[in-house]
Amino acid sequence: MTSSLFSADTRAVLDAIAAEQDRVDAVEQPKLLDTIRRRTAPWTPTELVAACSSGYYAAPAAIGRMLYTGVRAVRPRTVFEFGTAYGFTAVHIAAALKDNGAGKLYTVDLHEGKCAAARDHLKEAGVDEYAEVITGEAVEVLSVFPALCAEPIDFLYLDGWADFYLDVVRAAEPHLRSGALVHADDTEKFAAGARPYLDHVREPANGYVSVGITDGQGLELSTFTGRSVRTSS
Ligand SMILES: C[S@@+](CC[C@H](N)C(=O)[O-])C[C@H]1O[C@@H](n2cnc3c(N)ncnc32)[C@H](O)[C@@H]1O
Repeated sequence: MTSSLFSADTRAVLDAIAAEQDRVDAVEQPKLLDTIRRRTAPWTPTELVAACSSGYYAAPAAIGRMLYTGVRAVRPRTVFEFGTAYGFTAVHIAAALKDNGAGKLYTVDLHEGKCAAARDHLKEAGVDEYAEVITGEAVEVLSVFPALCAEPIDFLYLDGWADFYLDVVRAAEPHLRSGALVHADDTEKFAAGARPYLDHVREPANGYVSVGITDGQGLELSTFTGRSVRTSS
């Protein structure tokens, strides 16, 4: 069977997002990086989301494929994504869930317009049945996660903003299944922001086995070895 990733509808959506990102981010990314360089105070989520509102900032295609292969292999019932943007990675994850025949992605972004576009993209790609786009701040959404989903999180994907990864993973920990896979992107691209997160997941006493991978931007793969506090795991 051919993967959903290669269906005409899914390919058209992913190619369109990638083409728009190339066009828009060529202009927007240098401006954002300059703003980040000049910034001395810590970002609040609202300030950061406003600062990157005009760009796409989708993950590279290789990360999309990696998420697809990971979700096919792990066969998670529940996936949580921090940072939806226009849904490039969400479409990869939802396509893998569709090919698994089960599972649900909860993907969160504070930017309303990006969430609306991501919902359209998931629908056009024919995978919207497997994904719910939630407009909100990631830590706040995780604080009420049991009201959204009765299952523990089997697969956590962090692609929002590295400075917030530690807060987000801590907010996710009560909902992680023991053995859950945690994938964090841009850990070298935004090394200073990611440092507290890496220190946390690389300390075995915090309940992780973790490895850093150099792909040009840096990614960290971790297994949560802590005890799940969710009853359904
Ligand atoms: C790098 S982009 C995500 C790219 C997306 N995963 C993809 O590959 O298409 C980061 C997104 O995280 C969102 N974001 C950043 N901080 C957030 C927070 N604290 N809560 C919710 N969304 C946040 C931004 O609005 C932005 O759209």
